[in-house]
Amino acid sequence: MTSVSQSNSTSEPAHLDDTGHRGVADILPFLRACIGNPAQVAAITPSSRQLAYLMTREISAETGPVLELGPGTGVFTRALLARGVRECDLTLVECHDDFSRLLNGRFPEARVVPLDAVRLGPAKLFDGRPVGAVISGLPLRLMPPKKVFAVLRGAFGYMRPGSALFQFTYRPRCPVSRRVLDRLGLTATCIGSVFWNAPPAAVYRFEARSPSPFLSAPHRRL
Ligand SMILES: C[S@@+](CC[C@H](N)C(=O)[O-])C[C@H]1O[C@@H](n2cnc3c(N)ncnc32)[C@H](O)[C@@H]1O
Repeated sequence: MTSVSQSNSTSEPAHLDDTGHRGVADILPFLRACIGNPAQVAAITPSSRQLAYLMTREISAETGPVLELGPGTGVFTRALLARGVRECDLTLVECHDDFSRLLNGRFPEARVVPLDAVRLGPAKLFDGRPVGAVISGLPLRLMPPKKVFAVLRGAFGYMRPGSALFQFTYRPRCPVSRRVLDRLGLTATCIGSVFWNAPPAAVYRFEARSPSPFLSAPHRRL
């Protein structure tokens, strides 16, 4: 059974100084990308510091390697660094060329992978230390279920047991369908919401509930 539960809803103040976007330096590239491909970028402005705070709240220096999907201008990336994650432990998967270039310049020690996150699994990005957490800014709600399935299966294939994937959404319900969650054996829990974001957003934590044949068998389809 799929568990989609709601825990403490909160609009956290931003205690971390270096987590927010950097004014025009972040907003202009974002607007340009959004005008060029609104369905892919799916937001008119980078996420707020408050949302970055909530997205990274459960991550610390002990988390180890972190995979970030759809980092855009790097608002969550900066929050991860402020949490103590080492820059060399960051893998940033971004399919927009301009964002990839910008991320390479801003985070020279991180690994920036210019890739469609749907191809995460076949790309074989990690062969050593398992990933301690995944942070996702992908517009999952706008993606067809088969693509959402491929993204989540690829991400969880790299994650160590007990770790979690964090995803925000602008809608008042889970951005992943019950069918996809059940197929992958995942649970989804809303860990809070943030009013100070345009638009307001909620954050979900996804975890593997039980061994799933789809997480271990790379060729099976939804
Ligand atoms: C809503 S924006 C979030 C950006 C940033 N994380 C933030 O919160 O400000 C979505 C991001 O996901 C990227 N993206 C969308 N679809 C993608 C895909 N299939 N693979 C990789 N990146 C993708 C977009 O280029 C964009 O950077």
